[in-house]
Amino acid sequence: MKQDAKVFLILIFIRLLSVYIVKTWFVPDEYWQSLEVAHRLVFNYGYLTWEWTLGIRSYVYPLLIAILYKILQVLSVDFPTAIVMGPRILQAVLSAYSDLCLYRWTNRKNWALFLIVFSWFWFYCASRTLINTFETCLTTIALTLFPWDEKNRGNYHGEITKPNCSVPGNYKFVFLVGILCVVRPTAAIQWFPLCVYHLYLSKESAFFIIWKQYIPIGSLVLLLSIAIDSVLHGSFIITSFEFLKFNIIKDIATFYGVHPWYWYLSSGLPTLLGIQIFPFILAVVHILRNRYIYPKELILLACIVFTVGVYSILPHKEFRFILPLLPIMLYINSNYLSQWSRKKDKKVIWLVVGTIFVSNLIPALYLSCVHQSGTIDVMLPLRNLALKNPKTSNFLFLMPCHSTPLYSHLHVNVSTRFLTCEPNLKKSVTYIDETENFYKNPNKWLRDEYPPKGPLPSHIVAFDVLVPFIKDILSRYNLIYKIFHTHVPIEEKIGTYVMIYELINF
Ligand SMILES: *[C@@H]1O[C@H](CO)[C@@H](O)[C@H](O)[C@H]1NC(C)=O
Repeated sequence: MKQDAKVFLILIFIRLLSVYIVKTWFVPDEYWQSLEVAHRLVFNYGYLTWEWTLGIRSYVYPLLIAILYKILQVLSVDFPTAIVMGPRILQAVLSAYSDLCLYRWTNRKNWALFLIVFSWFWFYCASRTLINTFETCLTTIALTLFPWDEKNRGNYHGEITKPNCSVPGNYKFVFLVGILCVVRPTAAIQWFPLCVYHLYLSKESAFFIIWKQYIPIGSLVLLLSIAIDSVLHGSFIITSFEFLKFNIIKDIATFYGVHPWYWYLSSGLPTLLGIQIFPFILAVVHILRNRYIYPKELILLACIVFTVGVYSILPHKEFRFILPLLPIMLYINSNYLSQWSRKKDKKVIWLVVGTIFVSNLIPALYLSCVHQSGTIDVMLPLRNLALKNPKTSNFLFLMPCHSTPLYSHLHVNVSTRFLTCEPNLKKSVTYIDETENFYKNPNKWLRDEYPPKGPLPSHIVAFDVLVPFIKDILSRYNLIYKIFHTHVPIEEKIGTYVMIYELINF
């Protein structure tokens, strides 16, 4: 369809634009759980975090990036810029396609297009190589393939004409859900209510669907992923099982911070939706009041409530965990706003459009270009330093663990060292991680690790706030770069500037 092609081009343009605009650091996983792993697969150097040595992550997503790296390598165009931008461009195109799917799912509503393009959080994430971004894309595509049976919905008794699920096209979404669950086991939380609804919705018995669709497709996807992971991890492994064992049974996730149960309601959802939280609340009220004519929306709300509910019980919470709920929320919002705007006069509509536009544009641009940009910007001078002396350079990052990307952005095999923050895997009583240990007494840590008369790192990378505490060692270094990082550091270990110091006479 011509209209779709036009919309797709616009969406690709916007997502590619975000590859150039989004230049800030968000979370470590963007680099350490995807790019770094892929870089190691293809170029044989790259740091594997403890998640990879323990085998609790699936190689499926890094493998996609590795295939791109491999192509760049074979064509001898693995320039640093291509290595840094390539995976983001790939993700951006996938995001644009999933945006197009959302647009189609809403019956091509202009509101949907407007809301997805001006969702600040999605703009911020859509071109990042985060597993959550990938998960959100697959979720959106799966939602549009789900047999909702749009035409027959919504007579007064909420009865739905049951679609015929043995039609092949009707269970393509099961494949995607299977992939989602092996790539990121927690995706099962969001899909559980939808699959239960699918069982209820279909003409065939639940028994038939489970035995003829879920189990065969699920097994196929699982076997494929076990094969990929076992080959790349080097021994037989079921990463999703290891993931569950570590995160839930051994309760490792709480090591990375515990939030109160209401955190998703008080911080998570308002951040995810931005100003769109207001139409969303109005939409929810409207749907609940008129629940008999909105059976599909009710199911979507149930899915949101269930997912947020389960995530709220888990102690470790992050904004990005609920990103896959965004397409559902935007679907509800765009339906609500297009109904609402039918009855309103043009001026009011433009006022609402303008308000949504401006209040998304400001955080999108500030957070994408300014806030926490230093730890990304610092990689370019570091790469140039590494290229100058690849054999003798030796970088020491004295900042909280994984504050910067590493080899995926350097693309030079220099020696590096950074403070790690592995959880207490051996369950020792007095365990504190290297980062904590360093910050307790930086000078002592430095004296222990770099004894006097021994070799020193050629370059030290640190935030400005640390400088007064490591004066001893820095007396032998010159400041060579001071790079802006943020106006509002999120914790006391993080400063306004990132500094690079060079050993005197290096
Ligand atoms: C990278 O450097 C390390 C340390 O110098 C060396 O052991 C390793 O073999 C190098 N890897 C590659 C792929 O050059």
